[in-house]
Amino acid sequence: MSDSETRRVALVTGSAGGIGLGIARALGASGFAVWLADVQQDLVHQSADELKGEGIDASGIVLDVTKAADWEAAIAEVSKAHRGLDVLVNNAGISTRGTIESTDEAMWDQTLNVNLRGAWLGIKTALPLLRTRRGTIVNIGSTRATQPLPGLFPYVISKAGLLGLTRQVAVECMGEGISCNMVAPGWVDTPNERKIQARYGRPDFPTGIKNLTTPDDIGAAVVYLSSPAGRKTTGDILYIDSGLHCADDAGMVYVADHTPAYKQRIEKN
Ligand SMILES: NC(=O)c1ccc[n+]([C@@H]2O[C@H](COP(=O)([O-])OP(=O)(O)OC[C@H]3O[C@@H](n4cnc5c(N)ncnc54)[C@H](O)[C@@H]3O)[C@@H](O)[C@H]2O)c1
Repeated sequence: MSDSETRRVALVTGSAGGIGLGIARALGASGFAVWLADVQQDLVHQSADELKGEGIDASGIVLDVTKAADWEAAIAEVSKAHRGLDVLVNNAGISTRGTIESTDEAMWDQTLNVNLRGAWLGIKTALPLLRTRRGTIVNIGSTRATQPLPGLFPYVISKAGLLGLTRQVAVECMGEGISCNMVAPGWVDTPNERKIQARYGRPDFPTGIKNLTTPDDIGAAVVYLSSPAGRKTTGDILYIDSGLHCADDAGMVYVADHTPAYKQRIEKN
């Protein structure tokens, strides 16, 4: 068997940047061959090249998670290269804002399509390949899956749905040794999150957010769930939010042991 057939393999959606890139980097650094899949064609290849420059076995692939045909092509490519898949991370997501009344049908459809239907299509298409390795599935949810917030109507519903999907997949796949969990981030400092917060009235984000996490933190959680110890957990939700989900005021309560890069940044702020 060639090295590419025996090496552990992961596919991460929405990994051209932000949290997905952090997850791909963490999996790559722990020895996985990683496939970065994203709808942003140029950026996904650029990010794969960036990881290659760090010594990671990385490949970029263009994929719109809402399109079944894209999933079939992507999984066929991974299968051709490795004949199996160990880890599928459904991270691609959009962070839409709206209330019960201001959410229109287009926003509802778009949010549910990317954040929920996309994960289902991915799992459905990747299952035969995951079976060959008794693989694991990690869905990237949100603290908001269980702690709703006014103004996040379609987003909260999509992430709550993703939690239901996670648990249903876990029970359907339990007998086959395939695990499925949700990692739920709280505030994560990504370039896009800074833009979103600025647009919605928090231009100084992440200043003052003491329970901020980083893409590296989310990556470490995915690596854990993909490890032999992590494989004992299935159908569960792992909050990586420095306590945000259990705080009364969804705010600034706890400073966790963050990465040195984050500490430097928060001290500067
Ligand atoms: N940043 C946060 O504070 C935060 C908090 C909780 C949960 N999350 C979740 O983490 C995930 C990643 O968030 P992020 O902050 O890195 O976002 P981001 O916008 O920086 O990255 C999302 C990526 O998904 C890709 N994408 C969007 N639609 C796609 C599609 N149809 N097919 C394939 N790729 C698509 C985008 O091109 C982008 O590269 C999302 O699911 C988000 O809901 C983020």
